[in-house]
Amino acid sequence: MTKVLYLISCAAPPVRSIATGIRKAQAAGWEVCLVLTPSAHRWVEPDLAELRELTGHPVRHEYKHPDSADVLPPPDAILVAPVTLNTLTKWADGHADTLALGLVTEALGLELPLVALPFINRAQAAHPALARGVSVLREYGVTMLLGEGGFVPHEPKHGDVGSYPWDAAIAALPA
Ligand SMILES: Cc1cc2nc3c(=O)[nH]c(=O)nc-3n(C[C@H](O)[C@H](O)[C@H](O)COP(=O)(O)O)c2cc1C
Repeated sequence: MTKVLYLISCAAPPVRSIATGIRKAQAAGWEVCLVLTPSAHRWVEPDLAELRELTGHPVRHEYKHPDSADVLPPPDAILVAPVTLNTLTKWADGHADTLALGLVTEALGLELPLVALPFINRAQAAHPALARGVSVLREYGVTMLLGEGGFVPHEPKHGDVGSYPWDAAIAALPA
């Protein structure tokens, strides 16, 4: 049976070509459900119909009403990519004020396989909350692909979406 991957994506430049990550995960055999932060949702609003068609699922970005049914199948694994400084540090501190954060904070306790691939510049990476957050999340089992072999922070204004290491993230997912 096909395994379900929640691809949770934040408002950093690789989200503007999120179809690349979706297609790569699909090629690796995953059924992909896309969940966006509210900011990321605003960034890709013109592409939402296409992304829904590509994944075969609604693209979610906010909590459902308690009376509404779940519209996505439960996940077998979660890939958080691109993860921003904002969402990574809030995740590590247990904030859950977006659907994306609600899913990833709860997934820690559920011990779901979790892979995270940041996209941040060197100045953002120097903030002390980043090292703390990365350390907490790694301690609790998240495969955090920051540094050699994963995402290496770029100089401010020099991000290269084309070299974003989607393949490393997909290779880090469970077989
Ligand atoms: C043009 C632009 C580029 C940005 N690039 C990044 C980035 O590469 N990494 C990052 O962590 N934040 C970046 N940000 C800031 C985030 O979009 C901002 O912190 C936002 O609140 C993140 O929300 P989210 O984590 O809920 O998606 C960028 C913002 C703008 C407007």
